[in-house]
Amino acid sequence: MCKDKQVKDSSYVLTEGREAKARLDLLHQLCGDSTLSFYRKAGLKAGMRALDVGCGIGNTSIDIARVVGSEGQVAAIDISEKQIEEARLNAEAHQISNISFLVRDAGDIADLGKFDFVCSRFLLIHLKEPMSALKAMYDALLKGGVLACEEPHWSDFFSTPPSEAIRSLIQWQLSYCEQVGINFELGKELCGMLEALKCCSIVETTFQPVIREPSPMKRMLAMFATEAAGKYERYRIATREEINTVVQQLESYACDPETCFGASKQHQVYGLRC
Ligand SMILES: C[S@@+](CC[C@H](N)C(=O)[O-])C[C@H]1O[C@@H](n2cnc3c(N)ncnc32)[C@H](O)[C@@H]1O
Repeated sequence: MCKDKQVKDSSYVLTEGREAKARLDLLHQLCGDSTLSFYRKAGLKAGMRALDVGCGIGNTSIDIARVVGSEGQVAAIDISEKQIEEARLNAEAHQISNISFLVRDAGDIADLGKFDFVCSRFLLIHLKEPMSALKAMYDALLKGGVLACEEPHWSDFFSTPPSEAIRSLIQWQLSYCEQVGINFELGKELCGMLEALKCCSIVETTFQPVIREPSPMKRMLAMFATEAAGKYERYRIATREEINTVVQQLESYACDPETCFGASKQHQVYGLRC
């Protein structure tokens, strides 16, 4: 039986576990249907053995577990103990019993065995060495297995009317990425990364969620800014006062029925292990 492993601190900018649940649930409300249809199109089906890497609180893992069914099995890993704790509760609440959740670094999965389907969503943008994680994911595939990843191109957003607060947050996050050596623009590079691994039959699609009606989903950027505030201060990207002002402006923008927000474009790419 595979075990949890101790892992070192990461450059992850957001909160984890219970604190992250509201935002991750909203994110899944916004993107979940698109992600699931991407996974089905990539070949996810009943009876498969699947691996969800950087599973967070398990929202995608639960969808995958429903597709693979009782004949299939899901392993779901995350570097954060808090996320895995919350993911286990989440699966229990949904009465899903065919997922094994493990605390693991994305690059440390060789002992988990081989899978028909290996996927990650919004993980690689947080990693300093995304290619080595992707290689570990590729190596975890059976021959003919599917590697399916979804990542944003962070600066591909729009706001109508244009919002200076959104522009500031996008710039702050890009500046944080530059300082810590991660890449929130990775979505556009995903296809090339799968090519470099010699995946075959690569397919790429994009998805851009657009939110007009005031709804909790429209508050996601305000939540992101609030969670990232400590890191932005520590890296001298913005002062607490500047962050508070931007959070307030993002909240007002979210409540205004006249505003329309196009979130970052998501790149969904899958390929096969030849
Ligand atoms: C934005 S969340 C996405 C969670 C989930 N995939 C989803 O779409 O809801 C990114 C997740 O990656 C995890 N993560 C960050 N670095 C990691 C690493 N080196 N290995 C495994 N997981 C990692 C974080 O703890 C976090 O749960």
